[in-house]
Amino acid sequence: MTQSSVGIRLENVSAVFRHPDRGLVPAVREIDLEVRPGELLTLLGPSGCGKTTTLRMIAGFQEPSEGTIHIGDKDVTRVPANRRDIGFVFQNYALFPHLSVFENVAYGLRVRRMKPVEIAPAVDQVLAMVGLDGFGGRLPSELSGGQQQRVALARAIVIRPRVLLFDEPLSNLDAKLRLQMRDEIRKLQKMLGTTAVYVTHDQDEAMAISDRIAVMEDGRISQIGTAEDLYRRPASAFIAQFIGRANLLAGTVVERSDGMVTLETAGQRSAFRSAVLAVPGETLCAVLRPESISIGNTGDGMVAKVASSTYLGDKIEYSVIVGEDALKIVRFDPPEAERFEAGEEVRIRFPREGVQLLPAKR
Ligand SMILES: Nc1ncnc2c1ncn2[C@@H]1O[C@H](COP(=O)(O)OP(=O)(O)OP(=O)(O)O)[C@@H](O)[C@H]1O
Ligand SMILES: [Mg+2]
Repeated sequence: MTQSSVGIRLENVSAVFRHPDRGLVPAVREIDLEVRPGELLTLLGPSGCGKTTTLRMIAGFQEPSEGTIHIGDKDVTRVPANRRDIGFVFQNYALFPHLSVFENVAYGLRVRRMKPVEIAPAVDQVLAMVGLDGFGGRLPSELSGGQQQRVALARAIVIRPRVLLFDEPLSNLDAKLRLQMRDEIRKLQKMLGTTAVYVTHDQDEAMAISDRIAVMEDGRISQIGTAEDLYRRPASAFIAQFIGRANLLAGTVVERSDGMVTLETAGQRSAFRSAVLAVPGETLCAVLRPESISIGNTGDGMVAKVASSTYLGDKIEYSVIVGEDALKIVRFDPPEAERFEAGEEVRIRFPREGVQLLPAKR
């Protein structure tokens, strides 16, 4: 974090769109969100959940129908976009096609009336930062998609904004470039110390790039935390399945004592350490990550039947049946003795600690 990093605060922010047929459509509903100074926070969620709308309200491209937005100590709710001191990187790059790379990047500085003698070194410096040394004279049409996105990034950072906003900046790039660019964006953001909000619907990307992730669902933020918080302690079945892969094993609570909750599924019991206020007779779902379930052919554990076994080199993926549920299991590089084929009866064991128990889906 640099000295000048600022936080962003959204309080009770909503956005409503007027739709010709459907009337007023809420896109964002009463959001409270705090982005810490120097932090990269990601808004993650499925299509239509309100990510872009939230980002556009922070940028000032869209006025909230309710609530306030602060950048640093300043209430910017009614401040126009061009006075919010923000750099925005769009999915489609949004470069000026008729301007050279140099002029695309210089544009924001010219608008700010920077002296021409200061513009050239500033532009050259950010072009070097994004790996585009010597590309200043080209037109956007003479660049690859990845290079165009670098120009867009350079254009956003050259004005040294207090806040950087990214809306799915990598989704037009191929898979390999996406991985490379996300590392570069993260490095650059940390080096500059600029507070950033990043929008994606790709959970891998969110986990790799973010300090914290806010999961959005239907216009609301349903959970906010580090990638590890969300993976280990998902607040809902939706989040459990959205962040990584998860088995949701439903069971009836048969006992609760000494901080352990015992669930019964298909006549078989398993106990988990949990602080949830479980009532005997109620149904809960255990969030079981595929890599946390062990599989063997002896000892205790639940009896299950292997439905499929897929060898993938570094790991084997199993699907096993318990009662009416199919569970995914992943074992990394298991020894020969721990490999099972479809049709075999096996014993599966769950971790007793660190398993999240959630109310069953209705
Ligand atoms: N200008 C608009 N007029 C009317 N409705 C809109 C407008 N912009 C967005 N919406 C609606 O608001 C909701 C949220 O849209 P938003 O673009 O914020 O979603 P998103 O999370 O960014 O989705 P995606 O991942 O598809 O980009 C959607 O239901 C969308 O149809
Ligand atoms: Mg969007």
